[in-house]
Amino acid sequence: MAMSNNLKLMSVAGARPNFMKIASIADAVKAYNSGVLQRPAEIEHIDHVIVHTGQHYDRKMSQTFFDELGIPSPDINLGVGSGSHARQTADIMKAFENVLLDQCPDVLLVVGDVNSTIACSLVASKIKYPAGQKRKRPLIVHVEAGLRSFDREMPEEVNRILTDSLSDMLFVTEQSAIKNLSREGVQPERIVFVGNVMIDTLKRHLQRAESSPIREELGLDCPYGLVTLHRPSNVDSHKKLTTLVDVLLAIAAKRKLVFAVHPRTRVNLESFNLLSRLSNSPGIILTEPLSYLDFLNLINHADLVVTDSGGIQEETTFLDVPCVTLRENTERPVTVETGSNYLIGTDPDKILETVNIILSGKGKKTVVPELWDGKAGQRIITSLAAYFASDKNVLQRYK
Ligand code: UD1
Repeated sequence: MAMSNNLKLMSVAGARPNFMKIASIADAVKAYNSGVLQRPAEIEHIDHVIVHTGQHYDRKMSQTFFDELGIPSPDINLGVGSGSHARQTADIMKAFENVLLDQCPDVLLVVGDVNSTIACSLVASKIKYPAGQKRKRPLIVHVEAGLRSFDREMPEEVNRILTDSLSDMLFVTEQSAIKNLSREGVQPERIVFVGNVMIDTLKRHLQRAESSPIREELGLDCPYGLVTLHRPSNVDSHKKLTTLVDVLLAIAAKRKLVFAVHPRTRVNLESFNLLSRLSNSPGIILTEPLSYLDFLNLINHADLVVTDSGGIQEETTFLDVPCVTLRENTERPVTVETGSNYLIGTDPDKILETVNIILSGKGKKTVVPELWDGKAGQRIITSLAAYFASDKNVLQRYK
């Protein structure tokens, strides 16, 4: 039913770490529409259109997350698939331009730092809606804005900087992001500290994750560590990946390891002839990419996590599980400052030293960061509704 006081919100999901973030937004929209959240009279209903770019497309990297988290099926799937950075970004942009012109949403919401994030915000920033629409382009909203690793070798860092510079409203997860954005000249009224949508989804589904049979299925009846690796800087170089495989074998001599292997990493392990060294080790269990609930169950019961992921640094911090991050920098410093995360890099001696501290029970304890309370998505939706309801100029500004 079309209502005159609707706000049309379009969210973009493309790659695996986006899906748990969009789940929180979809839940908050549902809460808004059912009257659970406070509704300004001017905005009766939010129409939520979900666009999947198809950056991740394997069932295990995509569809299982929609199923498990109850995310509404994407209204539109661009089906772009894999490719070089330029090709993938360009393919998303070309397809997304038609979607924006057809749908003309009031708000475009992008999350995180993947190629889908920058591709869609760049299209939205230059779009000109057809005549007769109430605005010229959507308000561009970035969720998880302001994070900086200060390492432009990382494709995600480039995506983060560019997306933030194109966004009208920037929702942030931690204090460092406010400092970064202020330093870059973003006006304070455009920055809103809301907490962490990834933690919203974790909190909401943790109890369900406890019923996952994954530990039985993997035959885990002893303490174990959980491993993920997928950063190009770690897995695309033969030398680096060989070093990391050696370190994992050394850790596995002391602690059973479950290694959930990302598709990019599997391809490289195979082509560098390293996969069999891992699969022949009695201390290592290799798995395909795992579903959200299975993975959450495994993090929650691990006594050690070894990763180069961004999101897992946050999830381990929230769950107070010691995490060894195999990177030289992190865009999520709060996880090191108050959380259970150790930023170690890839020096084998340092990694083993830190693992020994953790396994001896002397690892750091977490203080859960400010506003990581399960309500970030609700704050985002409430802020957007209030913004459109109260700012009379907003309609003018985007005409
Ligand atoms: C992307 C994100 C990264 C995020 C990661 C989570 C960018 C620049 N990078 O990296 O920030 O942490 O997702 O996974 O956006 N592949 C499959 N099936 C899939 C998807 C990918 O087999 O469903 C394989 C393909 O060989 C592909 C490769 O994985 O070429 C890399 O995928 P891509 O999306 O380009 O980058 P990720 O490494 O997954």
